[in-house]
Amino acid sequence: MTSTEKSLNIIGCGKVGKTLGKLWAESGAFQINDVLNRSIESSRAAVRFVGAGRPVARLDRMSAADVCLIATPDASIPECSRALAASGLLRRGDIVFHCSGALPSREMAAVKGSGALAVSVHPVKTFTDPALDVETFAGTHCGAEGDAEGLGVICDAFERIGGNAFRINPDSKSLYHAASVIVCNYLTALMEVGIQTFTQAGVPRETAMQIIDPIARQTVQNVFDVGAARALTGPIARGDSEVVDSQLTAMREWNPAYAELYRLLGAVALELSREQGSASAENLAALSRILRKDR
Ligand SMILES: NC(=O)c1ccc[n+]([C@@H]2O[C@H](COP(=O)([O-])OP(=O)(O)OC[C@H]3O[C@@H](n4cnc5c(N)ncnc54)[C@H](OP(=O)(O)O)[C@@H]3O)[C@@H](O)[C@H]2O)c1
Repeated sequence: MTSTEKSLNIIGCGKVGKTLGKLWAESGAFQINDVLNRSIESSRAAVRFVGAGRPVARLDRMSAADVCLIATPDASIPECSRALAASGLLRRGDIVFHCSGALPSREMAAVKGSGALAVSVHPVKTFTDPALDVETFAGTHCGAEGDAEGLGVICDAFERIGGNAFRINPDSKSLYHAASVIVCNYLTALMEVGIQTFTQAGVPRETAMQIIDPIARQTVQNVFDVGAARALTGPIARGDSEVVDSQLTAMREWNPAYAELYRLLGAVALELSREQGSASAENLAALSRILRKDR
């Protein structure tokens, strides 16, 4: 099923709404109908950016549309879907979708009372500036779940603007979203821990940044090129238990919380090292003892 010729309302036209709205308006994937933000000034500004649509001040000023995107902050999505369901605007077969990575589409269950379909499509991308995001959207992977009939239409609309839709399990949505948090946000946090460890060792922060620049970039590249197990280097890959023991002791003396991080990630690295197969079974067993919690 395709989206062409279907009309689209947008409730919550901020960074994501503006970006998708403009791309869909320009590609003809949807005809943009009404746009509703919290203030009419914001709705007008969004319509100017999108280059199509009609700004409205309140939900009861909206007209019906085949599809409605709710792109408010996550906390407002259930409440907006309930208000939309109560408005009488929805018709059997209309599709309501949101773009949250954290919430399943069933958070909009209220819309099903009118026979509408609930869908969620989460673009795995950081949206910060719609003027730039419209240029970089193509190639974005989009995790999709919800009512099958509606999914076809919404995934088609994302694919028409260069998105790559893939199916996700709504019951695993928290884990699915945590995965991106770990890879992006925690990688940033982990780099900060490494930089602080350099400064604790007497290396100025600026110098630490210069030191890690090539090795951090190369490490990320290696993971993509050869996979995590083969990309692992260092004492745990070599099975050098004495080095790991003295590093863990030094970390514990300085910062027990960071030492715990070192130990937990060390245990993950140990499994990668097993898979890589460079270290001897004896050295792997010694590492396993050192990295145990109760040691
Ligand atoms: N930003 C990202 O990187 C990103 C990435 C993937 C998915 N997402 C998802 O996309 C959705 C939108 O995020 P965003 O970053 O685009 O948010 P945003 O930039 O903060 O925009 C939210 C918009 O919603 C409007 N709004 C808030 N409450 C409303 C209500 N009760 N009724 C009508 N409009 C309301 C706001 O209106 P005003 O302008 O009047 O305040 C604003 O225009 C979220 O579900 C988020 O999880 C975001």
